[in-house]
Amino acid sequence: MRFTKKDILGLEYLTPEEITLIIETARTQKDLLSRPIKKVPILRGKSVCTLFYENSTRTRTSFELAAKMLSADTSSVSVSGSSINKGESFKDTLLTLESMGIDLFIIRHEASGSSHYASQIVKSHVVNAGDGLHAHPTQGLLDMLTIYENKGKFEGLNVCVVGDISHSRVARSNVWGLAKMGAHVRVCGPSTLIPPDFDKLPCEVYTDLDKALEGADAVNVLRIQKERMDRGFFPTIGEYVKLYGITSERLKGCKDDVIVLHPGPINRGVEIDADVAYNHSVILDQVTNGVAVRMAILYLLLGGGNAEII
Ligand code: CP
Repeated sequence: MRFTKKDILGLEYLTPEEITLIIETARTQKDLLSRPIKKVPILRGKSVCTLFYENSTRTRTSFELAAKMLSADTSSVSVSGSSINKGESFKDTLLTLESMGIDLFIIRHEASGSSHYASQIVKSHVVNAGDGLHAHPTQGLLDMLTIYENKGKFEGLNVCVVGDISHSRVARSNVWGLAKMGAHVRVCGPSTLIPPDFDKLPCEVYTDLDKALEGADAVNVLRIQKERMDRGFFPTIGEYVKLYGITSERLKGCKDDVIVLHPGPINRGVEIDADVAYNHSVILDQVTNGVAVRMAILYLLLGGGNAEII
């Protein structure tokens, strides 16, 4: 199967076959990460640009490493240090960079829909690296790869996404991607942190954490996004920790082999207990899988046809 989409804007726009192709390609390409020389010439001559209007450690670095491992040329533009700081518009920035020969943009922007907009402005490929509250498709895919590696399937799994659902593009990408592959997705958080339209998505909505965790195969814990909160969504952090903080004790209602994920960065001791995060989670596997998934995406958009390439 060939991957024929020009852009990756959200998992709601991908078919189960396309999601499977990305995950299978990532599983194959992950092998490169354990080689002494982590480089293959597969995207030689291609130019990739990370264009980030918001901060990032994992997404940006893993995309850059992934591109370099596949021998693409990389450039990196952020607000600080670029002409965006002089007032250059998003559109002009895109057109300017495309004129330099960029083949693929990886874009993070605070506005929901910004990657869609960019995909209409440029002929180059666009990968959404997080647009406002809408989507973070590559995070959704790396979460799915991590779940698949541990469970060997998606069909019939109970996956619980816990925390600040309102401000989370990761929650939406998890719901779309996992539901498409046959998992049952539950989202859980205080009612003030669950948007009213979430019951229209393919998931079940809970406010009672113990009920949401019952029989869960995987729990994805979301960060409390203080930087996106312009008012109090719960009385105190202490109360949030008591009701929604993930501890070993809280996980007792889950399946015995439950895995705990977190997209990072973590507010340690708030949404997730330090012992769970350090000793009983797959968080660092997610980070590694981020490189593999992003290699797969760059490869499929810029050059490849199937998983067996290296
Ligand atoms: N999970 C995630 O998107 O992390 P960064 O903000 O560090 O990229």
